[in-house]
Amino acid sequence: MKQLSVLLVVSVMLAFTSCTNSVSEPGEVDLEAVGQQLQLLHQNTEKIITEADGSELVCPRTINEDGSLRVVPGGDWTSGFYSGTLWYMYEMSGDESWKKKAITYTEMLEKEQYNGSNHDVGFRMYCSYGNALRLTKNEAYIPILVQSAKTLIARYYEEVGCIRSWNFDEQVWQCPVIIDNMMNLELLFWASEQTGNPVYKDIAISHALTTIKHQFRDDYSTVHVVDYDTITGEVRQKNTHQGYADESSWARGQAWGLYGYTMTYRFTKDQRFLEQAEHIADFLLNNPALPEDGIPYWDFNDPGIPEVPRDVSAAAIITSALYELSTFSDEGESYKLAADRILMNTWSLYRSMKGENFGFILDHSVGNMPDGSEIDVPINYADYYFMEALYRSKKF
Ligand code: GLY
Repeated sequence: MKQLSVLLVVSVMLAFTSCTNSVSEPGEVDLEAVGQQLQLLHQNTEKIITEADGSELVCPRTINEDGSLRVVPGGDWTSGFYSGTLWYMYEMSGDESWKKKAITYTEMLEKEQYNGSNHDVGFRMYCSYGNALRLTKNEAYIPILVQSAKTLIARYYEEVGCIRSWNFDEQVWQCPVIIDNMMNLELLFWASEQTGNPVYKDIAISHALTTIKHQFRDDYSTVHVVDYDTITGEVRQKNTHQGYADESSWARGQAWGLYGYTMTYRFTKDQRFLEQAEHIADFLLNNPALPEDGIPYWDFNDPGIPEVPRDVSAAAIITSALYELSTFSDEGESYKLAADRILMNTWSLYRSMKGENFGFILDHSVGNMPDGSEIDVPINYADYYFMEALYRSKKF
């Protein structure tokens, strides 16, 4: 770990000579500059929502191939990230105008509390309403979040011990569980603490333990999709959906795993989850395929490395997770140093140019490479986890 930190210091210097955002200067994240980008994103988003009157668009997601801004409806899996980003902007700036915007974009998602079409209700509702409740203490948000948790646990398969992630491709999968699903457990842990009903937490712990058992390889890299038999609970197959290959390590999947087990330890204080998070962190940070600046290629096993895109969204999730892990782990100091380096490099080298990219903060994420969509573009969840990481960098 210490060696890694030294490497990353050197890498910052090397990276400035070689990377994408050549006019950027190294240094601290400039919150005022972030605010200017978000102001632009707000104007562009409002324009599209106004023009598409009645279409239920609620959240800027990315930039389309034709160069236009993509704004998505509440049912999109990413619909909670924009309001979540606005909440962090409000929290860090103290500027009430961000709070007003955050409330507006949060409350546009109210009906998603009943949307059980996939596991993403956790992403949609906890990044939006979860932050809204945390920062406003508005009790009207509590039943909405509790209903969201009920919607999520309706997807739990007792025999399997997991929440089913997806319903599509039913001819291929019976009960597909993706590593991303670890993120949705935060809503469940919160719901048990809020209501005093252990059912949500029990399901979350079962999901996390089953996922340790079946979703990780010996080196603590993670499979993207594990499909279970709904009757027997046996593993039917292990695949990828967004990674390079079934056996490869898709960067954002590793990031979801790291964040998910760190968060699960926060709520449970169960040593097994802390150890899992530490193992995943070590897999990531000591990986020979991790570039010197700490921003991963989209998949650790793409044979085209180094001529393939980075995934800044994975870097942002990893950074935020490492800050939290640093508060729990005996290796905390080295995790924090790594998080500081990646945060600085993300800002210095991969941010959008001022006034560009419709106002998204960061550039250079990959959504779904096998599908050929959202490659090397800004994406809202990169911005959300970057803002969370920035907040945590000051808090922890
Ligand atoms: N949860 C979907 C993704 O990470 O792309």
